Amino acid sequence: MIIAPSLLAANFGRLATEVSRVNGSGADWLHLDIMDGHFVPNLSMGPPVVRSLRKVVKVPLDCHLMIENADQFIPLFAEAGADWISVHQEACVHLDRTLHLIASHGCKPGVVINPATPVELLTEVLDLVHHVLVMSVNPGFGGQKFIPNALNKIAALARMRAERKLEFRIEVDGGVDQETVADVVKAGAELLVAGSAVFCHGDIRTSAKRLLEAARSANLTRA
Ligand code: DX5
Ligand code: ZN
Repeated sequence: MIIAPSLLAANFGRLATEVSRVNGSGADWLHLDIMDGHFVPNLSMGPPVVRSLRKVVKVPLDCHLMIENADQFIPLFAEAGADWISVHQEACVHLDRTLHLIASHGCKPGVVINPATPVELLTEVLDLVHHVLVMSVNPGFGGQKFIPNALNKIAALARMRAERKLEFRIEVDGGVDQETVADVVKAGAELLVAGSAVFCHGDIRTSAKRLLEAARSANLTRA
């Protein structure tokens, strides 16, 4: 069970401090939301920010690309220090090629689906990916409400994984907090991205810890 704090909700004026506060909470992972203003209606960070973060943190960097032309930027993110790179099914015309490109740069390839995209569209790439990221909000902004249909999609992916004896991990992103975390864990997700729940509710370390504890106890009660 992994909590990956999403930096989108952090204070960008003191990124290094906010990131260091996550250290020691057990949420030793960072989810970086990369937005281009085209695929999603927002802009965030690019390779220079990833490179700077790489210098100050040791934890794995999980880069979620919400961009068009992913092939053009994958080498730059890999060189900047990304560990995992995920791309949207909806944004990649040649998804198979893009996933291979990520792997060829030494990063773990992941595929992401929007709330309106059915899991069946991933059938042909499930054996290529290290993780599948199910969006539980429409991408572009933090602090949105969890869309419950994501639970069915997580459960369907877990079934497909078992049936085909595959090993990809299931990640969920958007609206994961104390209220929703147990449901996503019980549905089968093991990588939980959380932005506002970690950075916007008092002490960052305490919030991350509480979320991780809630996720672990839900995991224990999973059938
Ligand atoms: C949305 C991003 C998410 C977002 C999550 O496009 O992919 O990672 O930051 O934020 P919360 O946890 O606040 O929904
Ligand atoms: Zn994200």
